[in-house]
Amino acid sequence: MQRGKFLTIEGTEGVGKSTNLAFVRDWLTARGVEVVVTREPGGTPLAEEVRGLLLSKREEAVDETAELLLVFAARAQHLARVIKPALARGAWVLSDRFTDATYAYQGGGRGLSKATIEQLEQLVQGDLRPDLTLILDIDVELGLNRARQRGELDRFESETIVFFERVRAAYCQRANAAPNRYALVDAGKTLEEVQLEIDQVLTRLIG
Ligand SMILES: Nc1ncnc2c1ncn2[C@@H]1O[C@H](COP(=O)(O)OP(=O)(O)O)[C@@H](O)[C@H]1O
Ligand SMILES: [Mg+2]
Repeated sequence: MQRGKFLTIEGTEGVGKSTNLAFVRDWLTARGVEVVVTREPGGTPLAEEVRGLLLSKREEAVDETAELLLVFAARAQHLARVIKPALARGAWVLSDRFTDATYAYQGGGRGLSKATIEQLEQLVQGDLRPDLTLILDIDVELGLNRARQRGELDRFESETIVFFERVRAAYCQRANAAPNRYALVDAGKTLEEVQLEIDQVLTRLIG
């Protein structure tokens, strides 16, 4: 049995991850690929509880390292219960965010060192990395305006523009450092244009 491929979609708030996740799912399903759709933080009952802890607004200031460890605790569970078993049986896994989000939010946004994140990545994932990551890139304010239309903002969505500028820069840096693993998509375009570009990326991947 051939191992499935692991695809992730990344980007700042309101960039169109969920919208395009459905597009990618449908695109692959139409070509006979079994797709397991999931998200981070979350993806299992326990990991979704951790997501709740991470996203809820609270009086208590959250220590950056505590936040980082919660993210990776959820990820360990998600990998063990969902991602690895699916890939092993030949299904493809499509996740709304994964470890690139940790480099972008806890690294770029919160200022934790890349070396620290790399250590946890190695501990939790071993050699497992996504085969392809779509990074949707957009002007931060434009994305936040889109996200605001969804309703009340969570703990991350309530961060400052400066925070999101750092998150965005970290995503772009990762995409530029490893162009084979990433597709950097201009998500400020119309949905039709964005999906045309994603279609081309997926066509190249399927080969
Ligand atoms: N290219 C686009 N142009 C205009 N609006 C978009 C585009 N992509 C997504 N949207 C809209 O922006 C909002 C946020 O999209 P969503 O997929 O929920 O973003 P994310 O999951 O990245 O936060 C939704 O209302 C969606 O319909
Ligand atoms: Mg979303």
